[in-house]
Amino acid sequence: MKCVAQKILMLTVAGILGIMGSYAEAEVTPYQAEETARLIAALLSTGRVVIDRNQSLIDDPNKGAKGFTPEVFERQVINEFRTRTGVDLTHPASAHLPPEMTNLLRALLDASKEVVAEAQPVINQQGVGYKNFIPATFGSRVAGRFSTQSGIQLKQTTLQPRNPKNAPDPYEEAVLRRLLTQPSQSVTISDVETGNNTLRVLTPIYYTRDCLTCHGGPAGELDISGYRKEGAEEGDLAGAISVSIPLDTVK
Ligand code: HEC
Repeated sequence: MKCVAQKILMLTVAGILGIMGSYAEAEVTPYQAEETARLIAALLSTGRVVIDRNQSLIDDPNKGAKGFTPEVFERQVINEFRTRTGVDLTHPASAHLPPEMTNLLRALLDASKEVVAEAQPVINQQGVGYKNFIPATFGSRVAGRFSTQSGIQLKQTTLQPRNPKNAPDPYEEAVLRRLLTQPSQSVTISDVETGNNTLRVLTPIYYTRDCLTCHGGPAGELDISGYRKEGAEEGDLAGAISVSIPLDTVK
């Protein structure tokens, strides 16, 4: 692992613009590549937060149509993302990134909306409380969809995952272990893996009080989703959002 050197890198962005499977390549600086990865992680995180905020609406058994449409979701994400990052997704130029990079953000927002659209029948079910449409299931679905479309790996991960698909790879495991011993709230970790020339960016996620109904104590007890609670406390490291961008030619 080494820090991103101040060189011009060629970054291969697969598929995303190519509806027909074509490959787009964008020439970006290490700063731009890192910034893109950071914004991708922030956008997934923002989508999770918006789902979390609407959780009691989604889980309201007395209500049929919830009005939590993909468009309503999108508006809330755009507002929250602007607050968190200063980037206005309705004016992509505000990100000061090459268009290929802002297209990735658009693609991630679209993937998020599609996941909310597909969940409409579940969300609008009357007479059912908990529906298993929570930040983590949303995040897993969006990450899977976006990764397939873009060739950029996006995932939520943690040391002892509930969902085996979220298991950390050796790099993620090493960073998560480091974060456990050196708590550094909301610091994004970024490296280039020299072996396979991949830019790795991890944004840690910490448990808030809301999360503890499922991830809190007593450890081992089943939560509403049917998993065993971790016994976590507010402020503990929950995991990270991990972004891997394959870098093509280093000039
Ligand atoms: C209603 C119960 C519930 C709540 C509340 C909840 N989670 Fe989870 N969490 C789950 C379930 C279920 C999974 C596994 C989802 C899947 O199948 O991908 C999960 C998975 C995760 C993962 C991915 C790693 C893994 O274990 O697979 C992270 C990170 C995570 N949760 C963090 C949080 C944070 C942070 C909060 C609060 C903002 C939170 N969770 C709130 C139930 C919950």
